[in-house]
Amino acid sequence: MSENQLYFAPMEGITGSIYRRAHHRIFGGVDRYYAPFIFTNPKGKISKKDLLEIAPEYNEGCRVVPQLLSNCAEDFIATAHTLKGMGYDEVNLNLGCPSSTVASKGRGSGFLGEKEALKAFLADIFDKTDMKISLKTRIGLNRADEFDDILDIYQAFPVEMLIVHPRIRMDYYSGKPDMEAFEKASARMPFPVCYNGDIFTAAAYGRVSEKYSDIRHWMIGRGLLSNPALCREIRGGDCASREELADYYHTMRDEYEVRLQGNKKVVFLMKEFWHYISWILSEEDRQEIDVLMHLRDGAEFFRKAKEIAANCTVVKGQGFHSEMEVHKF
Ligand SMILES: Cc1cc2nc3c(=O)[nH]c(=O)nc-3n(C[C@H](O)[C@H](O)[C@H](O)COP(=O)(O)O)c2cc1C
Repeated sequence: MSENQLYFAPMEGITGSIYRRAHHRIFGGVDRYYAPFIFTNPKGKISKKDLLEIAPEYNEGCRVVPQLLSNCAEDFIATAHTLKGMGYDEVNLNLGCPSSTVASKGRGSGFLGEKEALKAFLADIFDKTDMKISLKTRIGLNRADEFDDILDIYQAFPVEMLIVHPRIRMDYYSGKPDMEAFEKASARMPFPVCYNGDIFTAAAYGRVSEKYSDIRHWMIGRGLLSNPALCREIRGGDCASREELADYYHTMRDEYEVRLQGNKKVVFLMKEFWHYISWILSEEDRQEIDVLMHLRDGAEFFRKAKEIAANCTVVKGQGFHSEMEVHKF
């Protein structure tokens, strides 16, 4: 492989099929889009709502890897089988979701606290799933020193790729990624390891990818929500233009209007859109977006958002950073 692979992280409620298609058409630069998790079901049934996100006809042109959230091997195997029938050759297992409703049921990051059950689950799915299986993991539930035992479990299986977001569940998204834990995974695992966490600018990617020059797989989430041209920039291309951002906004707004049929949720989704994009815009734009966030009336919101899209100024080199802490690799 001559070039590092860059992946769009799964972001539940944000990076669905509408988002991916718009991103791929306007900005590109991403090798694979890992789709937000879907729950597994007995008999492998996929709901109509999930099909709108996952079915290949809604993901034209994008290379997508579906992600499953499950602690029931039988359901995982059946759902993976359904995905295979749609043409997918890789499925990703979510071992990182920190939300209490998920983790308290022993799924996502919660599964990391049930090591024997996790081992049995992995043995079953790797034995009976006729697809590549990649894992996306945090480094523990409550403490980073859980990671050694977790890695012992993973290394026994033919994992296609281990994506490591080096935080424990209790961190959610705050604090610094634990690079020592990541180094442990990369040194010990016999399969490819992908780094994920807090890459918000092309400069940060440059530093971290130089430091870990043997890592070929990189996943970016919030950095791409804030700067959709980030992967293009990493690959030497231009930063986002105002015209592209306007196209991005209007495409998504129009498609969500059709899918959600004028639902108020469109305003919510577009507020989230501008919340992230504001990080790469000028100070004046950010003040305008502050006003936008407080608008409740749909018509007023869309009028103001259209104005911002038509007039905003992108500041090259800016990117998302956590309000908790700004750090450099
Ligand atoms: C709003 C939101 C939704 C997320 N949804 C998922 C998900 O569905 N599956 C998953 O594995 N991770 C999910 N994550 C975690 C991200 O994929 C990623 O691991 C995390 O944001 C760290 O990467 P980043 O610093 O590049 O954003 C989500 C994160 C956020 C903030």
